[in-house]
Amino acid sequence: MRSLGTRGYIRALSMAAGIILAAGKGTRMKSDLPKGLHPVCGMPMVEWIGRAMRGAGIEKPVVVIGHGADQMRETLGDRYEFALQEQQLGTGHAALMAHGELLDYEGPLVVTPGDTPLLTAEALQQLIDHHTESRALITVATFHTEDPTGYGRVVRDAKGTPLRIVEHKDASAEERKICEVNSGVFCFDARSLFLILPGLKNDNAQGEYYLTDVLARVAAFGGTASALSFPDASIFAGVNDRWQLAEVGEKLRMRLLKAHALNGVTIEDPASTYIGCDVEIGEETVIGAGVSLRGQTRVGSHCSISSYSHITDSTVGDRCEIRQSWITGAVLEAGVKVGPFAHLRPGTHLGEGTKVGNFVEVKNAQFGVGVSANHLSYIGDAEVGARTNIGAGTITCNYDGFKKHRTHIGVGAFVGSNSTLVAPVTIGDGSFIGAGSVITKNVSADSLAIGRGRQEEKEGWATRWRTKNEG
Ligand code: UD1
Ligand code: CA
Repeated sequence: MRSLGTRGYIRALSMAAGIILAAGKGTRMKSDLPKGLHPVCGMPMVEWIGRAMRGAGIEKPVVVIGHGADQMRETLGDRYEFALQEQQLGTGHAALMAHGELLDYEGPLVVTPGDTPLLTAEALQQLIDHHTESRALITVATFHTEDPTGYGRVVRDAKGTPLRIVEHKDASAEERKICEVNSGVFCFDARSLFLILPGLKNDNAQGEYYLTDVLARVAAFGGTASALSFPDASIFAGVNDRWQLAEVGEKLRMRLLKAHALNGVTIEDPASTYIGCDVEIGEETVIGAGVSLRGQTRVGSHCSISSYSHITDSTVGDRCEIRQSWITGAVLEAGVKVGPFAHLRPGTHLGEGTKVGNFVEVKNAQFGVGVSANHLSYIGDAEVGARTNIGAGTITCNYDGFKKHRTHIGVGAFVGSNSTLVAPVTIGDGSFIGAGSVITKNVSADSLAIGRGRQEEKEGWATRWRTKNEG
């Protein structure tokens, strides 16, 4: 961890450090995946919190890991520091485990749970600002709820000064009536926190070291303890089971859709539209019902992505029209028209103005400008030159049972309907392939290749056949 507090270093106002507590098992998820790694709108829960932290000036949060530690490290990678909590002895103990990563750090230190992906950068910033302005040693983010069951209650004195947080299981009947609860999100003075944590006791109903007990300690020695109540409790929603995961996912999905809409994208039916967290969409693009845009997908401006199209890890240029198609790992230049019912697989690159129509599958194939493959084809492991027309039912036979081979089709060629191109094979620029051909040899430029049985006609044969059979 880079030292932020060393002498001579001028700290920006928003500079802070952060800890994400994510060592718990998450039993109710009923999952092999550590809870914090469950994805919401295409990103692990912990990463949502990490992003909110980065948005609030926390460069490299420390994640406290325990269950599934290796997987957490591997998935979250070098955007984080990690601290191992081998035994889950409580939130106070978990925060203490991060000390080693923050030894030189002085200043505001945000601590959050690892399962609250709706947390926003704005809320964290507000918490840090409030903490800094009130010169507090601890500031707890709270909210009011009609049903505080399970939450830690915030106990204040007559003047409203917070005195302590009492966990539900430890609370008296009177304390349980308090409706202001601990959200689980704190801002601490880092130095004070790490002085207090080692002295915490676990003599409570759960036998755990409670992070929440830090508040009473601060209050007891006369330090400033502060509680900032947030009117919007929804940002603190925690995920303990997969239904809560779905509910939180819905909220995040709406947040993303709204952001796109406010950027000039029309979302026809928010209820059925899924747009992942890293997707970019240009202005004036219209997204139809049931569309799903996932992974590292970029869609240009003035596009129409109509109903039930599913696009993953792909780039779609400006003014493209995609109708009910499945697209993965493809690059589409501007003005491309796809579908309905096309399947573009990884390695597909469609040049400007290309048309790929219904029931066409393209895989690992590069189309030049203005290519047209409008009906019922499979084009795999191929190059297709600019302005070439691929007739209905064209198949590139790219697989011999052992290896894949490439088909090269030149510029301005015409492949007649129902042609079978047996790779490896090259079809020269400007050449024609007769409909129904099986092409096994290279075709030179500007020629006509026909590879099919010749048509034969037996005049009067049908009449003779009928006469014979009808008797
Ligand atoms: C905690 C608070 C409670 C608050 C509630 C808000 C404490 C003692 N209680 O309770 O006041 O109202 O959150 O949701 O802090 N964790 C570890 N190591 C541990 C224990 C927990 O990393 O040893 C992590 C968990 O993975 C989780 C987070 O800390 O992400 C919170 O732990 P959890 O057990 O859910 O705390 P609550 O009982 O909900
Ligand atoms: Ca919890």
